[in-house]
Amino acid sequence: MKRKLRVFRYDPEAGDGPRFQTFEVEAPEGMTVLDALHVCKEQQDASLTYRWSCRSFICGSCAMTINGRSLLACKTQLSNLRGTVRIEPLAGMNVIKDLVVDWEPSLAAYRSITPHLMTDGDPPETERIQYPGARRLYDAAATCVLCFACTSACPVAWTAGGYLGPAILTKVARFVEDDRDAATARRLDEIASEDGVWRCRTAFRCTDSCPKDIPITETILRLRRLAAARALRGIAR
Ligand code: F3S
Repeated sequence: MKRKLRVFRYDPEAGDGPRFQTFEVEAPEGMTVLDALHVCKEQQDASLTYRWSCRSFICGSCAMTINGRSLLACKTQLSNLRGTVRIEPLAGMNVIKDLVVDWEPSLAAYRSITPHLMTDGDPPETERIQYPGARRLYDAAATCVLCFACTSACPVAWTAGGYLGPAILTKVARFVEDDRDAATARRLDEIASEDGVWRCRTAFRCTDSCPKDIPITETILRLRRLAAARALRGIAR
């Protein structure tokens, strides 16, 4: 069966405006949007540009807007999409070329939250023991692959330039809810701001778009409760 793809094309350096290019591909059972893009590039137009790497929804590279939704191209089956498939870059981000967006502002925000464990005292001889119940608290948040589909789907992130956004807040939760981390108080202070947890308007679009099914809105609301508790009675650690 043949399928049509309408793919966003834009090369700022070429000086031409954005446009859509229509491709037609043979779509066998099991073909993903990423597979279809490979066919377009290899057989029809080698200049088509997009990010991809693992093909297994682990690296987060191939997030793009597919039929109006922020999705991972490697996880999206063509057979689950109706009609001509419209493929655009992630919304709310500057386009570098075609489907490749500039992640640098989001990655700078990620670096700003100190995205690694901060611990007290000397390191143990072997490992830091953690019990399964404690691990379960941040199990979901730990699966985030930083594809930024959630940030792209969030209407607040489109309009409030300084907002940390759902992906970064999920990463903060991953450390705040890890009992080995000793910087909870500092982390909560950093996100208890207008550009942090209080900026979220519980639009839920982040949760709907997450390819890892992380309950992002719920995670942000948990962070809010912890931030409020710290403001009211203090969390010392
Ligand atoms: Fe945006 Fe998600 Fe909050 S979509 S407004 S971060 S619930």
